[in-house]
Amino acid sequence: MKILYATSEAVPFCKTGGLADVAGSLPSALAAEGAEVAVVLPLYRRVRERFGSQLTFLCYDYVNLAWRHVYCGLFSLEKDGVTWYFLDNEQYFDRPDLYGYMDDGERFGFFSRAVVRMLDHLKFWPDVINCNDWQTALVPVYLKDDGVREERFRSIRTTLTVHNIEYQGRYNPYVLGDLFGLDAGWVEDGTLLMDGDLNLLKGAVLCADAVNAVSPTYANELKMAYFAHRMESVMRQCEYKLYGVLNGIDMDRYNPAKDPSIASNFSVEDMAGKDADKAHLQRLMGLREEPHVPIVAIVSRLVSHKGLDLICEVLHDMMKLPMQLVVLGKGDKKYEEFFHWAAQQYTGRMAVRLDYNEELSMAIYAGADLFLMPSKSEPCGLSQMIAMRYGTVPIVRETGGLKDTVHAYEAWRDAGNGFTFANYASNDMLHVIREAVYLYKDYPDVFSRLRKRAMACDFSWARSAGEYLRIYANVTGQVWPAPEAAPAEEVPAAAPETPAEAPAPAEETPPAAEPVAEEARPFEEPAPAAETVQEAVPAGETVKKVSARRTAQKAAPAEESAPAKAEPKKRGRKPGTKNAAKKEPAVKKAAGETKKKGTAPKEK
Ligand code: GLC
Repeated sequence: MKILYATSEAVPFCKTGGLADVAGSLPSALAAEGAEVAVVLPLYRRVRERFGSQLTFLCYDYVNLAWRHVYCGLFSLEKDGVTWYFLDNEQYFDRPDLYGYMDDGERFGFFSRAVVRMLDHLKFWPDVINCNDWQTALVPVYLKDDGVREERFRSIRTTLTVHNIEYQGRYNPYVLGDLFGLDAGWVEDGTLLMDGDLNLLKGAVLCADAVNAVSPTYANELKMAYFAHRMESVMRQCEYKLYGVLNGIDMDRYNPAKDPSIASNFSVEDMAGKDADKAHLQRLMGLREEPHVPIVAIVSRLVSHKGLDLICEVLHDMMKLPMQLVVLGKGDKKYEEFFHWAAQQYTGRMAVRLDYNEELSMAIYAGADLFLMPSKSEPCGLSQMIAMRYGTVPIVRETGGLKDTVHAYEAWRDAGNGFTFANYASNDMLHVIREAVYLYKDYPDVFSRLRKRAMACDFSWARSAGEYLRIYANVTGQVWPAPEAAPAEEVPAAAPETPAEAPAPAEETPPAAEPVAEEARPFEEPAPAAETVQEAVPAGETVKKVSARRTAQKAAPAEESAPAKAEPKKRGRKPGTKNAAKKEPAVKKAAGETKKKGTAPKEK
């Protein structure tokens, strides 16, 4: 199985949110399961600065985006069994930040177009491209568009992972041709149209062969108006291909027994280090050094969907409890100002840092006792899993991935791994905070067992990677695990369960239907692989093909109808320019050395 993972950010190269953590861990987990995996990312300035010397320049080509004919360099790096590709265009990506520019639509339109354009130059032709969020949402659309003219594009299946449906990539429809180089048919038939806007995410939901929300509960929630940011009817229409595979965390990176970034290591067997981490955190944050007072922690972007209004409403009631509070994060001014003001009212008991600080966040995960996450909506949430790994017991609202990973403490049978409340109501939250604080104070043994249950949860990627591979197998019609593809020594000695005959060609296999997240599945019972096969070709498919066909009737740019296997252009500057005749240096160079190749593209 050959998988190309297209993403706009990934740890350790560049990060603004949880997508980067997922993109930084899932690909190597897929590779560990035996898949061939490559990731493709933009070559941002910060990637070039920090990793430039480790990158190898492979080749360059030109990408046609509407009237633009734009340079695209290709660099690569091997890491943990995965090939990482970086697409270079300095005009679009040599900037201080990843997002937040007025031409973000054009930048990621270019990136999505370039992913498809550069396929010829990658080490394999993928069976599946997994795109993520709106930034790579046009990849399935471009593949449909190109697939009308060239058969080979039709062999590639696409999956879309929705990390947060709030961000959809919405534009005025009049930019469709000019920015994205697509025919009006894509808007006229509704594929890319939503509430009068051009909507890239909607296009991907309709065109992809499978859509994955990042937790089973989120997959269900996406069908409801409260959570779906107006996409609920589209999600319901696509329910047949909607999955909810829960994210994991990197269990090696987040390991309290080995983590060098925390003051003192500890494990379920030896918890002494946790007390030392608590004392360290209290010193670091200027809190009173009280070992028997529980520290409640919030590490979050300070934005409304994180449920901060609930905290603002009852903060003073919370602070009447025998507890300390630490807050780390930045975001909306109104929350920053509130927490800043509140910390001054409770010196020694409440500390706030309005910052994004990886090192301090690890000190908090390690040193706190309770982790508060009352989100209004939370597609998956990674911090509650990290907190649990470090023995910091979560208090969460039952939504999205929080509901799938945290199970309420039940006194009568001494079960559960955290505290939960269902309604978005500050008094309900206060009630469970009170329950948690008094359990800590009055029943330390019970609390300690609860803490250990939280620490023992398995949030490793291996489980989720297996579920992703089953989705890929469904959409490609390939047998997975594929005994014939596995290296000889890895083939299990026992007779393989899978049929011996070769898998049906992907082309003839309709997209598999998912018994998807009909019901949110609890964390202990991971979603079974979807096995049923959809009988009919989904409606969306027809729409897309018709639309794409229409597009094809218009004249295609000459470069797009290139021969099936285009020769990679190596080493040279842009042919046809003054310098094109010059002899070029060797193919493989470090990124820094080839800096010139990434200079602003020529547009015509
Ligand atoms: C987004 C979501 C978060 C999720 C992450 C990774 O940041 O808001 O809940 O965990 O993506 O999928």
